[in-house]
Amino acid sequence: MISKATIDKVFDAIRVEEVIGDFVQLKKSGSNYKGLSPFTDEKTPSFMVSPVKQIWKDFSSGKGGNAVAFIMEHEHFTYPEAIKYLAKKYGIEVEETEATDEQKQQASERESMYLVSEYAQKYFEENLWNTELGKAIGLSYFKERGFNDDTIKKFGLGYSLDQWEAFTRTAMDDGYQLEFLEKTGLTIVKEERKFDRFKGRVMFPIHSMSGRVLGFGGRILTNDKKAAKYLNSPESDIYHKSKVLYGIYQAKQAIAKEDNCYLVEGYTDVIQFHQSGIHNVVSSSGTALTAEQIRLINRLTKNITVLFDGDAAGLRASLRGIDLILEEGMNVKVCTFPEGEDPDSFAKNNAYEDLVLYLEENAKDFIQFKASLLMQEAKNDPIKRAEVINDIVRSIAKIPNNIQREVYVQECSKIMDISEEVLFNTLAQLGRKELRAASRKERQERKAFEVLRPEQQQKVEKVDRLSVLEHSLIKSLLLNGSKQEDFEDLALKLNDDGEMVLEPEQVSMKVFQKMYLDLQQDEIAFANQDFQELFNILVERYNRDDSLDMKAMINELTPSVASKVTDILMNEERYELHDWERKNIYPKVKDIEVAQQVSDTILNLRCYLIERKVLDLQTQTSENKNDSNGEILGEIRDYYRLRMLLSKKLRRVLN
Ligand code: CTP
Ligand code: MN
Repeated sequence: MISKATIDKVFDAIRVEEVIGDFVQLKKSGSNYKGLSPFTDEKTPSFMVSPVKQIWKDFSSGKGGNAVAFIMEHEHFTYPEAIKYLAKKYGIEVEETEATDEQKQQASERESMYLVSEYAQKYFEENLWNTELGKAIGLSYFKERGFNDDTIKKFGLGYSLDQWEAFTRTAMDDGYQLEFLEKTGLTIVKEERKFDRFKGRVMFPIHSMSGRVLGFGGRILTNDKKAAKYLNSPESDIYHKSKVLYGIYQAKQAIAKEDNCYLVEGYTDVIQFHQSGIHNVVSSSGTALTAEQIRLINRLTKNITVLFDGDAAGLRASLRGIDLILEEGMNVKVCTFPEGEDPDSFAKNNAYEDLVLYLEENAKDFIQFKASLLMQEAKNDPIKRAEVINDIVRSIAKIPNNIQREVYVQECSKIMDISEEVLFNTLAQLGRKELRAASRKERQERKAFEVLRPEQQQKVEKVDRLSVLEHSLIKSLLLNGSKQEDFEDLALKLNDDGEMVLEPEQVSMKVFQKMYLDLQQDEIAFANQDFQELFNILVERYNRDDSLDMKAMINELTPSVASKVTDILMNEERYELHDWERKNIYPKVKDIEVAQQVSDTILNLRCYLIERKVLDLQTQTSENKNDSNGEILGEIRDYYRLRMLLSKKLRRVLN
């Protein structure tokens, strides 16, 4: 672990404009810097850096954060990698902390496994290039496959001699402990005897995103029907199959740059594509794709193109797995190859231009592809058609974005020649089934996912209203949290007739106190987790210090929360820049508005939550066939009354 002292030193030394200046040409613009976004292909600069706040914001991709976040985003580094990079840039010595004995044990165990894997990779590579057997058997096999020297080196390919313990013996002679040879699976220990797992195979090292060797795949060279064609390292503390993608290390920059990732079946497809000049390609190597693997790609791009061999059986089986990609909110295309060809053979047999052209012309949107494929099969069989509709709609239901879902419903309606109404109804039925099973919290989240149909638009609008209100509260808290203001408060009281009334009251307090007290009183929590986390942190800070040290605070936030903060601050910055004169003309107006604006937002939030509560209760009464309806209706009436009071206060007209 990097010590806290080192991290502090790094944060003290870094200047966001200097760090970013190494990657983006920055021009001074007012108190900020501007440049072309390094994350998109833009012509007019929308990338801003604030030296005062020590943050950056890319308005074209929506990304933002501090200097560390920039390095993580741009170089695809992990947090420790980013810190180390910056330490090097500023000449700071990295000090690693003493961990607990147990941590040390674990870390050093993993570290030993990494070291042994790296050693093995070098050893196998050395065999391939510099031993007679390696050259005659391994290297000539790769050459026969059509891999050239550069390609073989780029992927660190190697050869494991066809002897029982050639590798194990050499490694132990070089001081590597049998324990770690066994834990990485490189050596199999049976009683007193030791065997090389990959005896007589050509070797494909599997790298992490940052380039460490985690494990291996080994391909057999004989036609032995009993032995597996490919053998892989077993699961270990450093190699988790479900979290690794073959080729991600060699592909990551190209994936981000091309803003697309090709997904293929295996090692040889990845390598052949690279050699052909297409570098944004990875494979899940034999196993079914997992959500964790998809998230690895999702860090680099939202777009994925799955490439299939030209055999129909495999294709049908794979369709289901793709729903997982939709669930992660990614755009999925699929592309099939001609009968008898796989990506490897196709890339090998065609020129780069033809390969690119083929991919361009044959990559189809996944949902459309699936709809037309399945419909062809179902044709005039009504029962099968019904199944297909369900199947397609289940895929559409996985898409988190409701506008996108609506577009797909329209398109599939055309492809399958089925009315949109039927598709929407199937979708709604699916939704209801799931809703019943889902917990309350999930239900709230799911509401945001409901399909956008004309008669439901109102509901969706309300979901947006909630996030707008929460955003606005957090913004006021960030910008004005420590200001002392006069609030016209509303106290909820019971009058002599026992009715609820709100009475105005003047109170003077700090903005953050007002928010904290009001929200606490109504037990209101933010629906957005990041906002809630930020709210807690900000209130704690304001309570402790008189003013907010923005830079120190941002540095301690999780990347997702920090990016929300930069969003808010930089949007404010842009507004200020844009409206500079106006701001000078009306400098005070903004101040006067603070108290009013905070009060209004909280009131609006209360109204919104009451409306939602009423809606919930109404749904209950319509679902409930039992007698508790009377009670619920009473509750609804109470809430209506409360809402009317609040609305009056807000001078809003009730509908
Ligand atoms: N694969 C695997 N395990 C297997 C078979 C295949 O992991 N038992 C993966 C490999 O990554 C391989 C890809 O699937 O690169 C393609 O499989 P296949 O064409 O059978 O492998 P090749 O090495 O290309 O064999 P061949 O020369 O017979 O085509
Ligand atoms: Mn093959």
